[in-house]
Amino acid sequence: MKLSVIGAGYVGLITGACLAKLGHEVVFIDVDREKLEAINDRKAPPIYEEGLEELLSQIHIEGSSDYGKIADSDVIFICVDTLADDGGSIFLDNLLSATKQISQVLSKRESYYVIVVKSTLGPGMTEETVIPILEEGGRKAGKDFGVCMCPEFLREGQAVYDFMNPARIVIGEYDSRSGEMLDQLHRSFDAPIMHTSLRTAEMIKLASNGFLATRISFINEIGNICKQLGIDTYEVAQGMGLDSRIGSTFLNAGIGFGGSCLPKDLRILISRAQQVGYQPELLRNVAALNEKQALKPVELLKKHIPLKGATTGILGLAFKPGTDDVRNSRAIKIVQTLLAEGASVKAYDPLAVENFRKLFPNIDYVSREEAMNCDAILILTEWEEFKELDYRGKIVIDGRRIEKAREARIYEGVCW
Ligand code: UDX
Repeated sequence: MKLSVIGAGYVGLITGACLAKLGHEVVFIDVDREKLEAINDRKAPPIYEEGLEELLSQIHIEGSSDYGKIADSDVIFICVDTLADDGGSIFLDNLLSATKQISQVLSKRESYYVIVVKSTLGPGMTEETVIPILEEGGRKAGKDFGVCMCPEFLREGQAVYDFMNPARIVIGEYDSRSGEMLDQLHRSFDAPIMHTSLRTAEMIKLASNGFLATRISFINEIGNICKQLGIDTYEVAQGMGLDSRIGSTFLNAGIGFGGSCLPKDLRILISRAQQVGYQPELLRNVAALNEKQALKPVELLKKHIPLKGATTGILGLAFKPGTDDVRNSRAIKIVQTLLAEGASVKAYDPLAVENFRKLFPNIDYVSREEAMNCDAILILTEWEEFKELDYRGKIVIDGRRIEKAREARIYEGVCW
C-alpha cells in the first residue's frame, strides 16, 4: 500500500519504518529539518531506539515537508505529538494544523482513502475535533474517506520490537469499510485484531496506561507498608504474581513511573473524566502517590547524613533503562530536592546525560567511579551495569532494587 505518516517523531518514525520493512511504500511529512535529513540522508535517527538505525538502513523511505506528497496515499497516519499540560489539557496545535493540511490536499481526491489517528487523544476527540476538520474540504467521512483510531502501545527502548510483535491491534473505526482497510494492513501480524468504535479505541489506550500506572502506585503503596513491617516487597510481588489474575509484570516497586506516556496519559484521563463531571479519585491518587514516592530517597538519606554540604552520587538519570529519555524522570524531582537541601550532586548515566544537562546545566556529570566516591549514592535507574558495582563501605539509597547494593555499609531500599 501507499502510506503516508504525518509526524516523524517517536511514534511516526517507528510506525512508518516498520511498515516500510513489511513492504509498504512510505512517505513521512514533518516540519522538522533534522528529522527529514535523518530520513532522506540515512543519518542516525534523532531518537535512541534499539534496532531502529539498522532498520532504517534496510528500507527506502522518503521525508518531506510538502503535504502534496500524500495526495495519492491509500492510508494516511496522523502521528503528531499531543503533549498535555499539568491539568491534562492536550496541546492540539500540531494535530489541528496537520489535519487542516490533510483536508486541503485531499479536498479534490476522487478515490477512497483512510485517515488513521495514532496520536494519543482524549476519548471522543477523533469524532469531535479531527473529523469536522477533515470534512472542511467538502469530502464526507464514511462516503469519500474512512477514519480509524489505531492506538500504539510502544515501550521506549523496545518500540521496534513492540511494533513488530504487538500483544493486540486495536482498530477504532468510523465504519466497517474504514476498519477493513486497516485490517488488511495488519493482517500479517501474529496478534488479535479488535475492531471497535473510535472513542472506545481512544479509551483503551488511556485506560491501558492508566492501569499500568495504577499497578505501579499500588505496589509502591504496598511497598511503603512492607518497609514499616520489615517485609520484602519483591517477595510479596512474587507471591501475588503467581496468581494468573494478577500476573508478575509491572509490580517492581521503587521510586515510581516516569516517561512521556504514563504521567501524561494519566493526566489526560483525569482531565477528561472531570470534563464529563466525574471525579476520578483512584486515578488522582495514583498520580499523587507517584509524586510523593519520588521524595522518599531524600527523606531516607536525611536519616543517615546531614545533606547541607554533602556530596551525593546519582546512578541513573533516564526514566528507565535502555533509553536516553529523561522526560518525567524521577531523577528530576530528586536532584531538585537534593540541591534545595544544600547538597552537591555528581551524576552518572550511560546514555541520558546530555538530555539531563539541558534541565540541570549546573550539576556535575561524572564517571561512574566518581559518582560512587560520594558521601552517599542514590540509585535511580536500574541499568544492568549497576548490578556489577562494588558498594562495600558505601551509603546507598536504592530506588530501583539493585540486589548487589545490599553489600553497602548502610543500605536502604526505598520501599523494601
Ligand atoms: C509505556 C507503556 O508501557 C507503553 O505500552 C505505552 O505505549 C507507552 O508508555 P514507556 O513509557 O516506554 O511505555 O515505559 P514503561 O516501560 O512502561 O515504564 C514506565 C515507567 O514505569 C518507568 O519510569 C519505569 O521505571 C516504571 N516502572 C515500570 C516501575 O516503576 N515499575 C514497574 O514494574 C514497571
